[in-house]
Formats: sequence, C-alpha cells, structure tokens
Amino acid sequence: MIKYKNIKNAHIKSDLIYRDLYETSIKDSDLFWKKISNRVDWFMKPKKISDVDFKTAKIKWFQDGQINASYNCLDRHINNGYGDKVALIWEGNNPDHDKKFTYKQLLCEVSKFANVLKSHNIKKGDRVCIYMQMIPELTIAMLACARIGAIHSIVFGAFSSDSLRDRINDLNCKVVITQDSGVRGTKIDIPMKCNVDKVIKNSECVQKVFVVKRTDFKIHMKNQFDFWWHKEMNCASNICEPEIMNSEDPLFILYTSGSTGTPKGVLHTTGGYIVYSSYTHEIIFDYQPDDIYWCTADIGWITGHSYIVYGPLSNRATTVMYEGVPNYPDFGRFWQIIQKHKVNIFYTAPTALRALMKEGNAYVEKWDRSSLKLLGSVGETIKKPEWEWYYKIVGEEKCPIVDTWWQTETGGILISPLAATTKLKPGSATKPFFGINPVILNEKGEEIKENPAEGLLAIKNSWPGQMRTVYGNHDRFFDTYFSQFSGYYFTGDGAKRDKDGYYWITGRVDDVLNVSGHRLGTAEIEGAIGQYKDVAEAAIVGFPHEIKGEGIYAYVTLMTGIKPNLKIEEGIINKVREVIGPHANIDKIQFSIGLPKTRSGKIMRRILRKIAHNKLNDLGDISTLADPTIVEQLIKYRK
Ligand code: WTA
Repeated sequence: MIKYKNIKNAHIKSDLIYRDLYETSIKDSDLFWKKISNRVDWFMKPKKISDVDFKTAKIKWFQDGQINASYNCLDRHINNGYGDKVALIWEGNNPDHDKKFTYKQLLCEVSKFANVLKSHNIKKGDRVCIYMQMIPELTIAMLACARIGAIHSIVFGAFSSDSLRDRINDLNCKVVITQDSGVRGTKIDIPMKCNVDKVIKNSECVQKVFVVKRTDFKIHMKNQFDFWWHKEMNCASNICEPEIMNSEDPLFILYTSGSTGTPKGVLHTTGGYIVYSSYTHEIIFDYQPDDIYWCTADIGWITGHSYIVYGPLSNRATTVMYEGVPNYPDFGRFWQIIQKHKVNIFYTAPTALRALMKEGNAYVEKWDRSSLKLLGSVGETIKKPEWEWYYKIVGEEKCPIVDTWWQTETGGILISPLAATTKLKPGSATKPFFGINPVILNEKGEEIKENPAEGLLAIKNSWPGQMRTVYGNHDRFFDTYFSQFSGYYFTGDGAKRDKDGYYWITGRVDDVLNVSGHRLGTAEIEGAIGQYKDVAEAAIVGFPHEIKGEGIYAYVTLMTGIKPNLKIEEGIINKVREVIGPHANIDKIQFSIGLPKTRSGKIMRRILRKIAHNKLNDLGDISTLADPTIVEQLIKYRK
C-alpha cells in the first residue's frame, strides 16, 4: 500500500468507509444523491431526485430544482468570504508568461462578458460556439454562457474549419467566440479567426463573431459582424445577475465520435452535471482547500470541461490552465510548471507520459516536485511501464495514481481508485465510484456475476452526470446506448473484472479509435478519405502505436486506372487533416485492389485489424468472403 501524504485528512479514510458508503449509494440511490446535492447552492432545492427509465432513455435528475452553474463556480465562494482566493492560474506558452485571477476578478470578467452577450441579444437557450485555444477568455466565455443560460458548444481548437462548420450548423449557433490566432509550442499564428471566416461565409445561422486578441496576427474584421473582445468588455458593466435555470436546462453540448455517422452532440444539463463534477473532483482527487490542482487536458474535450473548469471551480479550488505543449521549450515543461506553481494534484494522459518518458529522467529530476501529493491519469489504460515511471520518477513513490475511467457521455469519472484507501494495481481503474453500478455483460447481454469476468462494460443505473440526449436526435441517443442491451447504459468499452472485483478496461469494442486519448470514429476518417478525388473506397482500423496508444491504419482502393504513388498518399493524409484536423493524422496507408467483404458487401474489419496488428495466424474464418484471394494480397503488401 502506498503511503499517502494526506492520509489523515483524506475525504475517504478507509476501505470500510468506502464499502459502506458505496453500498448505501447503490441501495438507496435517491437518498444518497439528495444528501450529495446539498454540496451546491440551489435557488430552489430539488424535492424530486431521480426520474430515470433506460427503456426509453429518459434521464432526469433534481428536476424541480433551480440552480445556476456559474453562480456555483463563482458568487457563492465570494459570498462565503473567499473572493481573494486565486481561482485560475493561467500559464502561457512561454515560461515567463502567466496570469492569476482571484474569484472576485473572475466573476468580474465573467459578468462583463455575460453582459456583452446579452447586449448582442444572446438569450437563455441560444447556442454559442466557442472555438479557442487554452487562454483565460475560454473559461470566462464558458462561465458567461452558463451565467445567462446560453448553451456553450466548445470546438477543440485543432479542429479544421470543416469540422467547425458541421458543429456550428448542427446547433444553429448564433455566435462564435474565437481568437485572432493561437500559440502552441513552436507553432505561432495557428489560424483561428481565419478558420471561422471560412465557415461563416455562407452560414445561415451565425450573426456575430467575438474575437480575443491573443497575438498580433493580422486578421480581417468585418464591420457590424466581427467584434473585438477587449473593446466590447471596455464598456460592459461588471454586474450581471445569474439566470435562474431549471436543473434539467442544458448547460453545454460537446461533440464526440461514435462508431457510425457524424459526431454526436452530447448534451449535459445543469444541476446533475454540476453536482457530479464537483463531487467526483473533490473525492477522487482528494481536493483539500489549499491545494493547487492542475489538469493538463484541453478544455475542448470533456476532461477540461469537468476537471479544469466546472469541478474545480465549484469546489473553490485553485485550478491551473496551460496554453502550451509538454515539450516546449523542452521536455521538462510539465515539471517546471509543477515547481513554479507548487502543484499538489496533477492529472494527465498516458500518451503524454509515454512521450516524456522516452526522453529520460533528467528532464523530470531537474525540477522540484515535492509539492505533489496525488497523480491522475485519463484517456486510455495506463500500462505498466508508464505507470511505474509516473509513480517512481515523477511521484518519487509518494503519490498514489488515480487511473480514472470515464467518457464524454458520463460527464465525470465512474471508475477510479480513491487515494487513501484503494490498493492500487497498475493498469486497473480499480473500483466503481459511489452511486455507480457497473456490470460485465456477455454477447447475449447477460450479466456475468462471478469473478473473474470478461466482456462488455455496461452501467446498470443512472448517475447525475450522465448525458441526457444527443442534441436534436433522441432516437440516436437511445439506439447508441440503450438499444443493444435493454435496461443498461452500454459504454462501448470491453472490460475484465478480476477476483478482487477490480475493473480492467480492455478498450473500445466498437469502431471508435483512441488516438493520443482523442476519440475518432472510423466512419468519420473514411468519409474524409473518400473526399480525395482518386479514392474509390477506404477502411480504417487502429493498430498499436508506441506514443499515441493507437495509430491510424488506412486501407485504400483507388479508382480504376489510377496507380498509387507518394503524391496520392500525401494528398490523402492532408485531406483528412484538412477535413477533421491535424490530430487525425494517418500513420500508415496500404493501397489495395479491393477490401475483404462478405457476399452482402459488408467490409470485414476484423480481418483488416488482424493484418494491421500482424496477427496473421489468427485471421479466423475467411471462407464467407466474396473474394478470399484479397486477403493474400493484403498480407503480402502489409505496411
Ligand atoms: C477510454 C475521456 C481505459 C475509453 C474522459 C472510453 C479509458 C473513452 C480511460 C472515452 C481509462 C478513458 N482507462 N480507457 N482510465 N479513460 N478511456 O469520451 O475507451 O474522450 O470509452 O472521454 O476513452 O473517451 P472520451
């Protein structure tokens, strides 16, 4: 058992307490969540706790309660006398560049921008697209939307203009908030406003664009359409009453990739989400009042929403937000920031650890990390080598690692160790959090009750942070998560449960890739490849990649008469980067005269996956293929 520095003050001090509370949370879930819901301030306390039916995908929590998320992240701490506490530490791309905002200062900025939005006629329920890099105005814009009840939809700053366009149009966003250009590592002038310009040229919904000046990059500002953030803020009042929201009013929408079709707009509502993100943040990271907490994720993903902004700020935490990358100016940047701000809790992803581990220990050891008490991991399974390195080198064997399993859809962490009590097993996300009842199902949808078990990971009950619907398409919500196994939320992940009841996530069982902790749908990438003029057909599978965890392997068939060459290969790679974004970078392309298909024309991805993984002795039955000779060809020219 790891010696945990904070064991005396830990929120959950013993395994007995965990087991007791866990049992209560499952047995009398409503009573449990009723108590927990008191941790936030309600304008009207809820009497109804849950109203859930997985058979129709109806999920409601605290539905007669009234609340405002920004009030809970700001005003109430000031009212309680903590206005001068630092809420946000922003660390810029360059090591000498930072800013701090106290709770009072943050409320002032948020209120001003909320008033700017109001003065431009943005109202409760309107959708606002935020397309920014990691600058403080991103957090301010989110909380300003929450303050007036507008629904924010953040598009990760690396997404291309095509992806941005789809997301804006799907929601009919009235405004876009962006910055002139972005700065990350050695990259300066990442086009942000220019990308927005491309999108809104023919947009039927966007009426206005707000632009933060981050660099001196020259951009075109259109009169009466584009507005500088700083100019608007200059004349805005710093008082803005928070809108009274019903608990089930939407707070935000965030797109995520699924196994089929276009990305889904995952919708989270207000009361349940804020209760769940706040509770999990405090308990799982064992947050204590003076801790400095840093999550390295980008706010453009769910991890940033829940564990940079809403969770920490609703807990009156000091949260660090970093604009840059792990390897700039060198591979020691993370550890330098930990020393500089005396970070106590550090939450990152295995892909970053793998990239840093490769560069040797000297980059870590150069900096003082004695402030650290707890380390966290998210995005994919943290495997033994990086777990050991994180534990021994980064944490000097003093910090437990919480391997947190969750999803965009779950709003917050569902399976994770608790720092002071869980005996860790590297590679296992360990035990369910309070109120979460995971099960392992077999292919028929039957629960495997005994241990050990291996199969599909589903959740048997609801929790307040669960997504409520796919924006504009409730049927898709039902079909994706509740139709396969009636009465369960199906996660799309496979898992094992060992003899001690620990969960080990084995990865996606659907056609979703996890590239550097980013979710990418195979259908999305195939669609983008299909836009390249010479392509007849394409199929994507993942393969093990040293740094990214999973790399992208593309099988491509060209139009009759076209011969593959380097130019076409580059063209395809660039096309996908252009349509989706640079994080969707194809690692290997194999040209082929055809793809393995059943007689009914369905691509047998199983075979393609085996070839990409070099598991050639294990191809299974190929006799059902329309043309089995294709397989020989694919093996022969394997990349
Ligand atoms: C994977 C990120 C193993 C999983 C918060 C899940 C993990 C998908 C872990 C969700 C973990 C996330 N161990 N796998 N600790 N955390 N995953 O929506 O496959 O970007 O379904 O949410 O990431 O990715 P998403």
